[in-house]
Amino acid sequence: MYNSKAIILPNFMSDIKPIVIANWKMKLGLQEAKSLASDIKNKVTAQIEVAVCPSFISLTEVGKIFSGSNIKLGGQDCFWEANGAFTGEVSAKELKEVGCEFVILGHSERRKYLGETDEMVHKKVSQALAAGLMPIICVGETFEQRQQGAKDYVLIQQTTKALEGLEINASQQVIIAYEPVWVIGSGQAIDPNEAAAAHQVIYQSLFDLFPSDIVKNNFRIVYGGSVDETNVSDFTNLDKTSGVLVGGASLNINDFLAIIKNV
Ligand code: PGA
Repeated sequence: MYNSKAIILPNFMSDIKPIVIANWKMKLGLQEAKSLASDIKNKVTAQIEVAVCPSFISLTEVGKIFSGSNIKLGGQDCFWEANGAFTGEVSAKELKEVGCEFVILGHSERRKYLGETDEMVHKKVSQALAAGLMPIICVGETFEQRQQGAKDYVLIQQTTKALEGLEINASQQVIIAYEPVWVIGSGQAIDPNEAAAAHQVIYQSLFDLFPSDIVKNNFRIVYGGSVDETNVSDFTNLDKTSGVLVGGASLNINDFLAIIKNV
């Protein structure tokens, strides 16, 4: 097991407010989404950054409920072209128009079930940035890749291919979500020290791609994968970890409030 204390890291992220991102996936109907959004708006008081990513259909209504609050809105995907004859797709610009600030890209469920490649993710990141959205780029190894000792390779590849050749200017922000695929939805998060080591690998890839001041000021790394109220602070207390991406435990108001409280 890795020992994060053995890694000497510049502690440049200590004063950044943590972010909690809720990924509702395709788990709520419109009425359920509206009801949970109202609960979140009425009950979340903590001074941390909270972003909620409902399904496309629910975005507009949930956005209306959050208006006037500090809760931010994100999409779960966008298309890789700005506009055109792409039946069934949703553009980054449309997400922006309905009030999104964020968009999750390259989630492992999309890579697995929809054949999303690193190249597609790259083009989506480019569109998201052009539309003024903050991409939340998901990277992470499968169990098989982990067993083959390919974890770091996968993280470097996915991070690099998503971002290489793009220019990130001082007004743009990017979040990388490290999500070990094999623990998503399992109820068992990974050892926080292992997440810390993965985050360091991701940071190294970023330093290889961008000027160090851009990496320090414009990138954040969050952990995702079976985050709940009992383990969330183990991750948010790590050096170089700016928050969490929460799936299952964001669907119940009490669980979600407890996560926010424990950050
Ligand atoms: P989980 O999902 O919290 O249910 O493991 C996380 C995610 O898929 O983003």
